[in-house]
Amino acid sequence: MVSAEGADPVSPVSRPIPAARRDEAADPFSVRGRRIVIVGGTAGIGLAAAAHLAGAGADVTITGRRRAGGEIAAGAGARFAAMDVADDDSVAAGFAAIAQAVGGIDCLIHNAGVDLAHGPLEELDLGAFERVIDVNTLGAVRSVARAVGLIPPGGSIVVTSSPAGTVTAPGMAAYSASKAALDMLVKTWALELGPRGVRVNAVLPGIVESEMGSESAPDVELIRRMTANGAYRRAAELGPVFQFLASDASATLTGSLVGAHDGISAGYSHQVLERLGADLG
Ligand SMILES: NC(=O)c1ccc[n+]([C@@H]2O[C@H](COP(=O)([O-])OP(=O)(O)OC[C@H]3O[C@@H](n4cnc5c(N)ncnc54)[C@H](OP(=O)(O)O)[C@@H]3O)[C@@H](O)[C@H]2O)c1
Repeated sequence: MVSAEGADPVSPVSRPIPAARRDEAADPFSVRGRRIVIVGGTAGIGLAAAAHLAGAGADVTITGRRRAGGEIAAGAGARFAAMDVADDDSVAAGFAAIAQAVGGIDCLIHNAGVDLAHGPLEELDLGAFERVIDVNTLGAVRSVARAVGLIPPGGSIVVTSSPAGTVTAPGMAAYSASKAALDMLVKTWALELGPRGVRVNAVLPGIVESEMGSESAPDVELIRRMTANGAYRRAAELGPVFQFLASDASATLTGSLVGAHDGISAGYSHQVLERLGADLG
């Protein structure tokens, strides 16, 4: 992993973007030809969304800090722009390069996130706590502030949040606080940008197999028990949710926190209640 500084501004897309077909204009779920930028698209959920959306005919650009970003993007049928969301100059330069390459952004998916500071209050690592807020919350502010001028009426913004912003657990203060703040930003931006015809929504994935998912939640079995159906998702399974929110099919949604988490924050699952010794009849 490297700083975005000094990297190539924008890598070329690896394949021609298919032209819109007349019969697809009637499909409200179509993202064909739509210019989609995924901030934090070099791994996990963002990269899987990029591959899904490019496969559906969108013109996809992914961003991130990795030196291999261009190759990673090419593998997903996307182009790459270097960007570190913790650095405002890098965010500004990244979006300037994207504007030059594609002109505008029909859907911004802000997905970059980290989960670093776990543990009790007395053992607080303030630096790690600040880093989580800086990347997860202020990173979204930097990104949306720089991108919003490129989004035309009818466009949308999708932010990857987490059920941890709604339901937390001991030791999860930094991550949960960063995502709870993100949820309120999404609602505020939805109200601010509504008159411009720009929608803003969040996706709240549950437990998803990824670099972060495996590092921050080693006890996958425990978390599975908290879902309604015992699910542990592959990142690719989130692709259609992002497509829905990037498409006209979600025209009535703005300011929404879209739970894609198998009921993890809906309440107490069968397995949790059984563990607590509840008589479920
Ligand atoms: N996995 C889960 O179970 C889960 C559940 C709920 C929500 N989420 C959320 O989903 C999002 C993606 O998570 P993931 O599980 O796919 O994680 P991941 O595999 O670790 O990927 C994280 C992505 O964020 C980018 N990123 C991190 N710091 C960045 C920075 N400073 N500047 C620019 N990009 C940065 C990374 O790109 P570079 O390394 O190239 O910079 C990478 O593309 C996060 O917001 C996370 O909070 C994940």
